[in-house]
Amino acid sequence: MNQILSKKQLSADVYEMVVEAPLVARARKAGQFIILQIDTDWGERIPLTIADADAEKGTITIVFQSVGATTLKLAIKEPGDCVENILGPLGNPTHIEKFGTVLCVGGGIGVAPLYPIVQAMKTAGNKVIVIIGARSKELVIFEERMRNYADELIIVTDDGSYGKKALVTEPLKEFCAASPKPDMSVAIGPPVMMKFCEKTTAEFNVPILVSLNTIMIDGTGMCGGCRVTVGGETKFVCVDGPEFDGHKVDFDNMMLRMRAFKEREDTDHHQCHIELEAVK
Ligand code: FES
Repeated sequence: MNQILSKKQLSADVYEMVVEAPLVARARKAGQFIILQIDTDWGERIPLTIADADAEKGTITIVFQSVGATTLKLAIKEPGDCVENILGPLGNPTHIEKFGTVLCVGGGIGVAPLYPIVQAMKTAGNKVIVIIGARSKELVIFEERMRNYADELIIVTDDGSYGKKALVTEPLKEFCAASPKPDMSVAIGPPVMMKFCEKTTAEFNVPILVSLNTIMIDGTGMCGGCRVTVGGETKFVCVDGPEFDGHKVDFDNMMLRMRAFKEREDTDHHQCHIELEAVK
């Protein structure tokens, strides 16, 4: 059992929770995720990226959007309540080294999993420039946290209600076109955002790392739902990723696959019990 210690509503349907998980908190590295199960009887397993952790207190911070059956159930939990199972840390950690200047781009809720990468890149001695993008001011998250690590922070919104009215690719292009250009970039957000970040950086030969965590389902390598094409090869995001060289990812194929169950998810709040069915 893992107790929820605090809960904060970051925007209309985005929540931040601090949860007791001492072993995960001690072992986790930037880029890794957990599998959370609200109840172990028939509860869906959902992968969530670790947005922050406190090894001394034995806690992890998760950020999620209440969009499906399980995240809606999680959103109504309160401090003091428990989730029955947290498994992790899972996935390959982000490759961190001293690159020089690193551009980190986060869109929407993707800003949360970007945060530990920003921390780790800064700690490794990089100059870190962070670009946060959101549809509007109310949806901008983790601004203060990012300010603690970013050498420069740019905020853009689609409607201009906060920061500059622009898409993230606009400042990204400006930084890539500058001299000297960035040595590395990282993008986490909606697939379409990552696709256009990839295109923008490709123009200037800037490497880009993308996290494809949004396509994962059970997160264990069993369901096959997270299959993507990277450099012409089939990869599974939960075991081979979740991060990949963005210049090799087939984003169109990924987006097509992500739409496959959309109608069902929207209409009946379907829960995935594939691995539970397997052990029955
Ligand atoms: S999420 Fe099921 S195989 Fe990767």
